[in-house]
Amino acid sequence: MKAIILAAGLGKRMKSELPKCLHKIMGRTLVAMAADAARGAGAGEIVVVTGHGGELVREALGDSVSYARQERQLGTGDAVRAAMGYIKPGEDVLIIYGDTPLLTAGELKKAADLHKSGDNSVTLISVVLEDATGYGRVIQRDGAPEKIVEQKDASPEEALVKEIWGGVMAFKGEALLYALPLLTDGNASGEFYLTDTIEILRKAGHRCGVYQSPFPEQFMGINTRVQLAEAAAVLQKSRNEAHMLAGVTMTAPSLVWIDSGVEIGQDTVLYPGVMLEGAVRIGKNCEIGPNTRIVGSEIGDGVTVSNSVILDSRIGGGTSVGPFAYLRPHSVIGERCRIGDFVEVKNAVVGNGSKASHLAYVGDAEVGEGVNFGCGSITANYDGRRKFKTVIKDGAFIGSNTNLVAPVTVGEGAYIASGSTITDDVPPGVLAIARQRQVNKEGWKRK
Ligand code: UD1
Ligand code: CA
Repeated sequence: MKAIILAAGLGKRMKSELPKCLHKIMGRTLVAMAADAARGAGAGEIVVVTGHGGELVREALGDSVSYARQERQLGTGDAVRAAMGYIKPGEDVLIIYGDTPLLTAGELKKAADLHKSGDNSVTLISVVLEDATGYGRVIQRDGAPEKIVEQKDASPEEALVKEIWGGVMAFKGEALLYALPLLTDGNASGEFYLTDTIEILRKAGHRCGVYQSPFPEQFMGINTRVQLAEAAAVLQKSRNEAHMLAGVTMTAPSLVWIDSGVEIGQDTVLYPGVMLEGAVRIGKNCEIGPNTRIVGSEIGDGVTVSNSVILDSRIGGGTSVGPFAYLRPHSVIGERCRIGDFVEVKNAVVGNGSKASHLAYVGDAEVGEGVNFGCGSITANYDGRRKFKTVIKDGAFIGSNTNLVAPVTVGEGAYIASGSTITDDVPPGVLAIARQRQVNKEGWKRK
């Protein structure tokens, strides 16, 4: 079975410069979501019909799919015609609208299976909606679809029909090849409608079938940004519910956004404003949030993160992060550490039990275990051209407001006096003082 995904439309109602199908729901483009479902349902080859912003669509999907080009957007039937070269007699083809991102492989497969077992020429997926506004109505006669009527073309009685077409049809290749050339644009929109293939095939004596899905939400079509937000909310709700049923607490689930594939351990609590993006793994008994964004990172058990941003990093068990910490890529923080308020870490390894409790920058550094990195201290890792590394050995104590001018090494158990600017290596166990002594000028005020 092949799948053809229509993604050439202008998406006028989105009021956007971006092609509609490249708008995103929780980090995935609409068209990629439709393609995922098609692949999951067993489509061997996926053909995406592009037009408006075609180059951008190709960039987004790459070589994972094939492409056909619709030069002018003359309607959904015309878009399928653009992919005619891929349609073969004797082979089933699944047509999917690229603005229907919530459909699942399971429902596509049920329709495809019914299509086969019923020996149908065409099988459409329908759902029943309380408010069918904007969708094509499925008109049935003698237990089979007779035609699909668009909102604009519907008679008052037809407009009352609540069974709508959900944007997916399975065809026998030969039936689709027969019907496509017969489409005309004699309708309210002056477009070639794919939906007219039903009436054409039925009139020619073909078997037309319907799979009525019990999941109307899966077939929400995205035409406006309001619908985009509605679809995102549907996906968010079902995903969050799955996490909650697996033992994760959310105090305000509508304010928590979790990408697909994120793993979260039992008894972890997510507070409002948490966003988990990409490949994120969070352990058990953590407290994450409020207002925390974690991207592509691994968080151990019993970790607390509040009001912070963590990008492509690893945090060991029992560590606390934030409030207002920023962990940039390649930060590897050990167990039972404290990365406190207004601390930025970048490309640094921090050993178990080390602390940077407030107002610090640790960049391009290797920090041992049990290190105390004082308030206001920084690694000066950049000379304007190149980056250099700072090494701090176990048990070192970096006094407040220290500049560690890299490359530099602070030995095990060494102390650095507050306010020092350290440019030379510090041997183990010493106290390094690198600042001017204080001078009190007597009688200054009188003068
Ligand atoms: C369409 C259906 C409607 C159905 C609904 C389901 C038609 C005529 N109407 O309406 O029956 O209930 O979807 O969501 O098919 N496209 C192209 N080239 C074009 C025009 C459209 O590739 O020339 C693509 C669009 O990018 C989009 C899809 O086809 O992905 C559907 O087009 P859209 O304009 O959104 O159709 P609807 O009005 O929603
Ligand atoms: Ca649509």
